[in-house]
Amino acid sequence: MTSLALFSRNFIKHPRMLGSLIPSSRFLVNRLLDQVDWGKAGTIVEYGPGVGTFTGEILRRLRPDGTVVAIDTNRDFARYLSRTLRDDRLHVVEGSAAEAQDNLQDRGLARADYVISGIPYSTMDPVLRERILRTTHDVLQPDGSFLVYQFTRAVLPYLRQVFPHVHQEFEPRNIMPARLFYCRRSPDRKATNGRRETRPRVRTAADRQG
Ligand SMILES: C[S@@+](CC[C@H](N)C(=O)[O-])C[C@H]1O[C@@H](n2cnc3c(N)ncnc32)[C@H](O)[C@@H]1O
Repeated sequence: MTSLALFSRNFIKHPRMLGSLIPSSRFLVNRLLDQVDWGKAGTIVEYGPGVGTFTGEILRRLRPDGTVVAIDTNRDFARYLSRTLRDDRLHVVEGSAAEAQDNLQDRGLARADYVISGIPYSTMDPVLRERILRTTHDVLQPDGSFLVYQFTRAVLPYLRQVFPHVHQEFEPRNIMPARLFYCRRSPDRKATNGRRETRPRVRTAADRQG
């Protein structure tokens, strides 16, 4: 079965879990991956690799001593990836992004330089969403980035609750034009690749109390 057929068949079975009928376009893949500093990227975690549209390109750009941990809840996709992307730097995990920390530790990896995420947050159980976002914050290096693509901006307030800096972009050349969110842990660093955050963070009650 081709990757497209496998993806579409799984969308019919799990529409909410996939969120898209076909894999991401090369425009979206390139736009998001251009945010990565490939000299610095030693450990990358990918949430929701699907049939490997991003994963293949991540491996093509990744340095020889780098590692990718690709986590997908879908068994068909995890098996397909293990079979088709044979690369010692890739660790495919069948499981939830919520377990990213354990998945890294199991492989002797402390933290990630980047987490790249294509999982659909707007249709997700809120408790699971919060758990994934908090875990992501904790697994990132202090200067690490969380790079997210979605089809709506619904996730933005939740990202802002966890990450002090969120920079947004838009990629129209995708079936379902995509919203991109580049989130940083450290409040004192530029948003990503030299670009600054364009919108202020929503102020919390604690901020207002000073
Ligand atoms: C929109 S697809 C993205 C696939 C691929 N990255 C692409 O861009 O074409 C979303 C993927 O996230 C996976 N997924 C959904 N919830 C997940 C979770 N909690 N943890 C890990 N993967 C998840 C789905 O199985 C699916 O493969």
